[in-house]
Amino acid sequence: MIPKIAIFASGNGSNAENIIKFADKNPGIINIPVVLTDHAEAFVIQRAQNLERSYEIVERGDMSKREHESAILNILEKYSIDWIFLAGFMRILSSDFINRFYNRLLGESQIINIHPSLLPKYPGLNSYKRAFDDGAYESGVTVHFVDSGVDSGTHILQQSFKRYKNDTLETFTNRGMNLEYKLYVEAIEKLFKKVEA
Ligand code: GRF
Repeated sequence: MIPKIAIFASGNGSNAENIIKFADKNPGIINIPVVLTDHAEAFVIQRAQNLERSYEIVERGDMSKREHESAILNILEKYSIDWIFLAGFMRILSSDFINRFYNRLLGESQIINIHPSLLPKYPGLNSYKRAFDDGAYESGVTVHFVDSGVDSGTHILQQSFKRYKNDTLETFTNRGMNLEYKLYVEAIEKLFKKVEA
């Protein structure tokens, strides 16, 4: 059975697009029937449409966190989702939610995330900017399993990139984003690559 993935994204969605393109070019590894967003205005919706994927908008509005997550779970059931790939999803999932995706054999949840730093450095928001403003000579990208902490789960892959003398925040961030695209796909290959007969 090919694992069914939902990508969760809150905004731009460039990682989501990159992962979907990888799945389309490499059939038989993962299926991504749906992109879920918590923002009706998110650009990722347009990307999902261009890539002929379903999208689901689940804004929190005045729902409690529990109600919001339960609305999300209903959607995931509708698509029989096995795994969640977080890609710029700006919400912290509750441990109840994460436990629903816990895989005993793996000892991890079937939820992965990409974070724009060399974790455990710079967890949380604006990590490229914080590293840049600190004058860090390098930063990096981490793909990790999601646990109930913030950016604290087991690493799947981590890689650094250098800061160059003439970098602006923009060139520095772009270098990081390009590494994100590469590393997310490598992490997917590491976790799911089918063995050729
Ligand atoms: C990326 O830097 C990702 O690592 C972080 O949020 C950003 C999302 O960018 N979690 P995009 O929406 O994939 O373009």
